[in-house]
Amino acid sequence: MKLYSIGVGPGDKEDITIKAARRLGESPVVFVPVKQWGEKSFAYDIAKEYINQKAEIVELCFPMSYDLDELDKNWKENARIVREKLEKTETGAFIVIGDVTMYSTYMYIDDAIKAEGVEVELVPGITSFSKVASLLGIPLAKWDEGLAIVPATRDSDFDLDEIFEKFQNIVIMKPSHNPENIVKNLKKHKLENNFTLVYKAGAKEQEIYTKIEEMEKGIPYLSTMLINKSRGRFVWHAKA
Ligand SMILES: C[S@@+](CC[C@H](N)C(=O)[O-])C[C@H]1O[C@@H](n2cnc3c(N)ncnc32)[C@H](O)[C@@H]1O
Repeated sequence: MKLYSIGVGPGDKEDITIKAARRLGESPVVFVPVKQWGEKSFAYDIAKEYINQKAEIVELCFPMSYDLDELDKNWKENARIVREKLEKTETGAFIVIGDVTMYSTYMYIDDAIKAEGVEVELVPGITSFSKVASLLGIPLAKWDEGLAIVPATRDSDFDLDEIFEKFQNIVIMKPSHNPENIVKNLKKHKLENNFTLVYKAGAKEQEIYTKIEEMEKGIPYLSTMLINKSRGRFVWHAKA
């Protein structure tokens, strides 16, 4: 039994690798993670034209929770479902947005999947922040600069001030989780004119924000912020 865990890129259907497209075309079953039943999956939207038309689509629900026992139970249950399907099909694919190794849902259940006796191959994808930097026409880092990639979740709040202090280039993932803390630190470090936020980079719904006042109103999910201390707002190369 083998599972291909596939990053399908951040949103543009052309930003999917040849390997990912090929595996999707060959897989008899495709697992699609959702946060709640009935929710539309962005990863599925990106991948669907590459999925074999005869493939069975199996949604796996990963509810938002901070209860570790509940999460453990959910991950084991989803891993069991994957193994039961693969017993019949031998191979299958699990899809995630962007790259599979960057904050992806798949990585939560990797251990549980392997404990079920399933062999796993990770198929990398283009990350959201690579796409954002390319859209804006800027480097993520150059020469000997450092690059920090941090999630803005409430648990990591205490780090943001220090990160803003130390790094030349910063990528903030999941900024919708804590816009107040981001705004506070942008102001504290006088970086109000050095950030760009992109919502759904590469997708037709893509939007670009550069004003601090817009951040104060809240940040939509599936946005990524780039901060570069030596540059101003990076909108000049951006194309929808
Ligand atoms: C669960 S993480 C998945 C990251 C993904 N595996 C990657 O490689 O970018 C979700 C976060 O990724 C970022 N993200 C994913 N797709 C995006 C897109 N198309 N545009 C902007 N940000 C995106 C957002 O920061 C979002 O909160």
